[in-house]
Amino acid sequence: MDAAVSGKKKIQWAQAHMPVLNRLKAQYASTQPFAGLRVGICLHLEAKTAYLARVLSDLGGEVAIAGSNPLSTQDDVAEALSQMGISVHSHYGATSKEYHDYLEAVAETRPHLIIDDGGDLVSLLHRRSDAWLDDIIGGAEETTTGLCRLRAMEAAEALRFPMVAVNDALSKYLFDNRYGTGQSVWDGIVRATNLVIAGKEVVVAGYGWCGKGVALRAKGLGARVTVTEIDPIMANEALMDGCRVSTMDEAATFGDIFVTVTGCRDVITRRHFDRMKDGAILANAGHFDIEVAVDQLEASAAKVSEVRKDIKAYEWPNGRRLYLLAEGRLVNLASADGHPAEIMDMSFSLQLLALGHLLENRDLKPAVYRVTDAIDQQVASLRLESLGVNIDALTEAQQEYLSSWE
Ligand SMILES: NC(=O)c1ccc[n+]([C@@H]2O[C@H](COP(=O)([O-])OP(=O)(O)OC[C@H]3O[C@@H](n4cnc5c(N)ncnc54)[C@H](O)[C@@H]3O)[C@@H](O)[C@H]2O)c1
Repeated sequence: MDAAVSGKKKIQWAQAHMPVLNRLKAQYASTQPFAGLRVGICLHLEAKTAYLARVLSDLGGEVAIAGSNPLSTQDDVAEALSQMGISVHSHYGATSKEYHDYLEAVAETRPHLIIDDGGDLVSLLHRRSDAWLDDIIGGAEETTTGLCRLRAMEAAEALRFPMVAVNDALSKYLFDNRYGTGQSVWDGIVRATNLVIAGKEVVVAGYGWCGKGVALRAKGLGARVTVTEIDPIMANEALMDGCRVSTMDEAATFGDIFVTVTGCRDVITRRHFDRMKDGAILANAGHFDIEVAVDQLEASAAKVSEVRKDIKAYEWPNGRRLYLLAEGRLVNLASADGHPAEIMDMSFSLQLLALGHLLENRDLKPAVYRVTDAIDQQVASLRLESLGVNIDALTEAQQEYLSSWE
């Protein structure tokens, strides 16, 4: 199939499964809230993102987009999107230099509004040219790692425009990070390996919102799950959820499949590789490719070979092999299609409404802002409405009871 045709079909499939975004698009079609505005996006460039870019363009925006990870861009989707009039800067397998050139190309369009995933676009805009900051009204950040970086910028008084913390909305992390990552990480691992999960020892590093989802779905597939953590509260939660908890030093000796999802660096390093069983599989689902120390794998192995698409074998001098999936990059996006469309429907509806909030509140100081409760509730309610699910409402007497103290 022609690339653009295949990309268009993927975008149409996503669109058909994003009812909340479709409702918002219909609601704002007549007012064209983004008319005359340039929107710069850095997100994983696959079908759901493409549909968000389309919606912003249909609502009047002039959209430029770069992929937020060199291995998550789907070239057919990128081709289809550029044929739809969006300025697309990305290709699958971009080198580090190309990746940064693409971000610069988006920055050079002098966006008024920004959507970022991981903080690379915002960071670039702050580091290069003051002129690039002049037109910016504000932006919205998609993920935990991006917010870590934004909060560090805010604390250092380096942030120059307001950013909305989409990741921290309840309608985001309870569903996207937990159920989206939980399902799509196993989709990626299963597609890459074609191996059975039942009966395997799975080690999940990090029991945050993503880690809880990855562990939950591993259990559902029949694995025995061990969690490694640095936070005693999360470690207790993992124990009470029925997982074993141990250090990575211990887990390294018995794990069959390792999934890192901490947002931290050097979670699995040489000293762990040295203890691992022959055939152990290493996957990362955290934002950056620094959770598994790939450079140490490269340096220690006697032989490196690609044994299957997205699987590299690192062979030790004694013949023991460790398998790294998707070069240690986000396995759910590099080896599968990322989160399900119904999940990204909520996350991207929050993105749209967060940009709308910035347009309605143009006097916001440079800082990181929560998504308002009203927006969070709106997205959750629209999703229930699209599913035909009704919930109860408080009676006056109930409201009075809940707000009284006597
Ligand atoms: N793959 C995806 O599609 C996807 C989706 C959403 C978020 N993310 C990314 O996944 C990462 C985690 O996100 P989250 O929302 O779960 O974050 P979170 O803050 O909720 O959880 C991270 C957890 O990791 C633990 N941790 C930190 N350093 C550790 C270490 N060295 N060893 C063991 N545990 C450690 C923390 O205590 C915390 O409990 C981030 O990089 C985020 O951007 C990926």
